[in-house]
Amino acid sequence: MSDPDPAKLAASRAAIELVRDGMRVGLGTGSTASVMVRELAAKVHAEGLTLRCAATSKATAELAESLGLRIESLDQIGWLDMTIDGADEVDPDLNLIKGGGGAHLREKIVAMASDRMVVVADPGKVVEQLGAFHLPVEVLAFGFESTRELICRALEDLDLGGRPINQRLREGKPVLTDEGNFILDLALEAIPDAPALARALTAIPGVVEHGLFLGICDLAIIGRADGSVVEL
Ligand code: 5RP
Repeated sequence: MSDPDPAKLAASRAAIELVRDGMRVGLGTGSTASVMVRELAAKVHAEGLTLRCAATSKATAELAESLGLRIESLDQIGWLDMTIDGADEVDPDLNLIKGGGGAHLREKIVAMASDRMVVVADPGKVVEQLGAFHLPVEVLAFGFESTRELICRALEDLDLGGRPINQRLREGKPVLTDEGNFILDLALEAIPDAPALARALTAIPGVVEHGLFLGICDLAIIGRADGSVVEL
């Protein structure tokens, strides 16, 4: 593996300082979370810690297990002391957009089953207002086009109409989440009223989960290229 991005490394190292022996820890998904998992595994081995870990995706479970961390299901553990995860955007109130890696459903379940959600990120993720990053929405395959139409109408009601709602594809084929669902990416440019959008999306039956994490994150650790961190 090539050397990790120094900002992601700095954030990850600061976050795992919060991990204590015996803790139950949720492991996020994405490139920053992968750096954190590698650092955590090194700490566990170096300090002989015993942790109980739950992963937010199959990819993270595989990575963690390959590094010698034991992964249990969330139901086996029951409740977590802390989840450490990445984010696509973080605003000054610690509201997030997540799901760039398509894992936001499991990520939200795991984060909300934790006493504390800690985000690790580089400065490029910090925004004044959410929305420049395309908002991922996990939807059922059943009734997919009707769900897209209902999302379109909801956006029009919120004066966010006319923006592209793209199905996430890889090599021309629909991306499937770990739960076997599709992903729509909403190109909104800005989200002036995130709670209203979250409510509108949640009210659509074919929407499984959206990538707005509102009032869920407790601490964001932003790493810098010089190795320093700032906490939000
Ligand atoms: C995956 C996520 C990731 O945490 C988010 O996309 C950030 O990823 P990265 O650290 O690779 O930029 O939400 O669903």
